[in-house]
Parts: sequence; C-alpha cells; structure tokens
Amino acid sequence: MAEEAILGFLQNNEQITDSGQFSAEFNIDHNELVNVIKSLHGFRYIDVQDIKKETWILTDEGKKYAAEGSPEVQLFLAVPEEGSISKDELQKKLAPAVFKIGCSQAGKNKWVEMGKQVSRKVKDVEDKVKGQLLQIQQGKEFDKESINSLKARKLIVPQIWKGYSVKKGPNYAPERKKVATDLTRENLQNWKELEFKEYNFKAKGAPVDAGHLHALLKVRKQFKDIFVQMGFEEMPTNNYVESSFWNFDALFQPQQHPARDSHDTFFLKVPSTTRTLPEDYVERVKRVHESGGYGSRGYNYDWKREEANKNLLRTHTTAVSSRMLYALAQKPFVPKKYFSIDRVFRNEAVDRTHLAEFHQIEGLICDRGLTLGDLIGVLEDFFSRLGMSKLRFKPAYNPYTEPSMEIFSYHEGLGKWVEIGNSGMFRPEMLLPMGLPEDVRVIAWGLSLERPTMILYGIDNIRDLFGHKVDLDLIKRNPICRVGI
Ligand code: PHE
Repeated sequence: MAEEAILGFLQNNEQITDSGQFSAEFNIDHNELVNVIKSLHGFRYIDVQDIKKETWILTDEGKKYAAEGSPEVQLFLAVPEEGSISKDELQKKLAPAVFKIGCSQAGKNKWVEMGKQVSRKVKDVEDKVKGQLLQIQQGKEFDKESINSLKARKLIVPQIWKGYSVKKGPNYAPERKKVATDLTRENLQNWKELEFKEYNFKAKGAPVDAGHLHALLKVRKQFKDIFVQMGFEEMPTNNYVESSFWNFDALFQPQQHPARDSHDTFFLKVPSTTRTLPEDYVERVKRVHESGGYGSRGYNYDWKREEANKNLLRTHTTAVSSRMLYALAQKPFVPKKYFSIDRVFRNEAVDRTHLAEFHQIEGLICDRGLTLGDLIGVLEDFFSRLGMSKLRFKPAYNPYTEPSMEIFSYHEGLGKWVEIGNSGMFRPEMLLPMGLPEDVRVIAWGLSLERPTMILYGIDNIRDLFGHKVDLDLIKRNPICRVGI
C-alpha cells in the first residue's frame, strides 16, 4: 500500500516534500513508509534526501503537569482567595516537589506574597505552562522563548525526527518489476527477458563462527603464562589414574587417614591395583611410616602393601609432584621449579560450589637450603602477578608439609580476606626416602582453577562453568580475561 502510494503519487507530482506529512495525509505509519522508501531507493526507483527536524517531547515531570496543572498554579489554588494561610499549613496540602517548585515559580510570577503567612496578590491566574505542554504533546510548534523556559525547567527534551523528501529515480516506474535474484537453471534459460537484481558488494557477510575457548581454559592459560614467566617447567599430568602409593603413601599420609576412605576418594574397580612400584623406595616408605627414621618417629602402625597398591582417581596433583621429585632424586641433584594445572577427583556431594572433579594449580621449587621465608617470598611474587598483593598466612596442617600455611588474600570487591590456597614445605619424611640430598628443601603450594575463574567471570554456580549444563552461548560470548583485573 505504501509502495503504491509513493509510486502513484510521483506519477503525477514532481516530488514528495516531506515523508512525515505524506504519512499523515495518506494515513500510513511513518516507519512503514520509511522502510518502503529505503527499499525503492535501493532499486533506484526513487531518489531521496534526508530531512531532520528537532521536535520536543514531554519528560515524565512535563507529562504530570500537563495532566495535573503546573506546581505554581497548584500552589496558587491552595492559597485561600481572601486572607492567608501559614506556610506550614500550605506545605501539608501539597506534594513536597510541587510545594518547592510552586513557591519559587509563584513567587517569581508575583502571584503570591510569601512569608510566614502566604496570601494571594492577584485574583486569577492562567496555567500557561500546562497549556503549552498540552500543545507540545499534540505536536504544535512554539516560540523560542517558551521552549527555552520549558526546557530549562526540564519539562521537555528535544528529539530528532528523521524523514525524507522523495523524487523519481533513474529506474522509476509506476509499478515495481519483480527482479530475478537467483541464478537458477530457469532464470538462465530466460535471461534475456528477465531483469536481474544487482549484487550488493557492500552487504555485510554472515559472521564466521570460529573456535571459542572455555573460561577455564582462558584462565588456565593466564596461570600457565605466569608460571612460565617465573621460570617454571610443566609437569606431565596426563594420568588421572594413580596408585594410592604415589597419591598418599609417598606423601607420608598414613593408611588410616580419613581421606583414604571410599567416601572421599574414588577407587578403581578395574584395574583395581597397580602392577609396578619402585621396590627399594617402597621399602623405605614402609619403614618411615611404621617406625620413622631420618629424625622422625613415624606413625607406629602396620603398613600394608595392598593398601598402597590400590588404584584411584588422583585426589590432588601433589601425586604428580611426588613422582617427579622421586625421579629427580634418581639423578645427580639439580634445582627445579615445577608447575601443573590439571584435573583431580574427590568423592563429594555436588552443590553450587563443589563438583566431584575440579582443576588444581600446583607449583613447587626444589633447591638446597630453601626456607619458609623463600616460600612466603615466592607466594607474594606469584600472587602479585595475579593482582593480589595483600596476603596473609595462617598455620595449617597437611600430612606431607611442615610447616603448612593457608594463604588468604584481601578481596577488594568483597571487602574481606578470602582463602586462596594452601602451601608448605615438604617433610623430610617424604623427601629423604626418595633419595634427595639432605640439605634439599621443597617449597610448594596449590589452589583451585575454578575459584578464581568464577570470581573473574561473575559465575556463582559451578555447574554453569563445568559439566553438561554449561550454556554454549556463554562460552561464545566470553570476553578475553586477564587474571587480576
Ligand atoms: N595438595 C594440597 C591440596 O590438595 C595443596 C598443596 C600442595 C599443599 C602443595 C601444600 C603443598 O589442597
């Protein structure tokens, strides 16, 4: 309908001067008209020129006064025709904003005498403001002065109206011809009779969907970069299945420790046990558990090989650290800095912040004569690279470290200290049976990857981050992240 109206009108007329007027005259919605104008212009049926006009619309406050009257008139009407009213009484009769604005405007207009008592100075007033607002609402034009005063009172705001003037274009025809858009067999056979739509080389192509990294992978990369910058080498963590020996026994964790229960650890049914362990080392570990040595009294219990043989899903990446330190001890000693970031498993009830699997970040340094001061210094360096420079340490307990420290960082956003990791110096009971030289110390720390990722991406349910409920769209939309920012 809009298309017929435009093409038909141009058949007998030079031009459509204003699409706004045209839409009013022909009773066509202006947005619809603009769409048709754009489409006809695309095919050069018409030529167009933009028209921009500044019009005015009422603010919420303006709309209120257009309906209820201006505050100055409301105030005037609240003052008795004869005599006076106390200012306090008057205030009670009106809304606070109406009273405040009304007092100043009615005073300025010299309509009322303001003092402790308020009285009328004129008999009648006319609500010009209301009248003007109503007219603006109907789209009437106004003198600059009134507009300026309404604008200054924030009762109206400008709005840019966009329309077009329209003339015949080079391809003008009273009716649009259907153009062929596809190179089908039929169209090619009739190509002489047909008119083809031109290619629009400026049209935007469909966005190409490339791969997207999951938030955990992005944050993992950030941590990895930090470790690499600090000179750490990555440990091989590609074995989720581990024997109890490397996961617990080698770490001087006694066999009756509650973490070794099937309520906390996933044990494997098939294959249920490991085949090979380094026998002489196993013997030394057995001895240190049972009766100590290397300055230790041990745990005084019957250490069982069957317990150490049991296969499990590793409960921490420290199992990998123990393998790596043992391997290191088999060669002439060289200092090492190792890290790993990979998955671990714990038999836990799943809730908003816990899954039965998560990722651990672990760092360790192995060198002669290291002290607790070195550990604190390294932790400060590491965490300051994540933007956490206020740290506190709290004494803690791990079977394999002494001393052990929980790491807390002051979280500016939450305004409190939050626990961010665990750390310590590996015990001699763990290092000496491996065969490491006596003066070699190992400082180490661990933290989860999920926790900082959830903080960075504002995710409060871990199931939105990991598992089958993850929204793929979230991964596509994830911005690049920088740890610490
Ligand atoms: N393995 C510890 C954990 O599971 C973390 C840790 C690593 C603690 C290294 C001290 C030293 O939480």
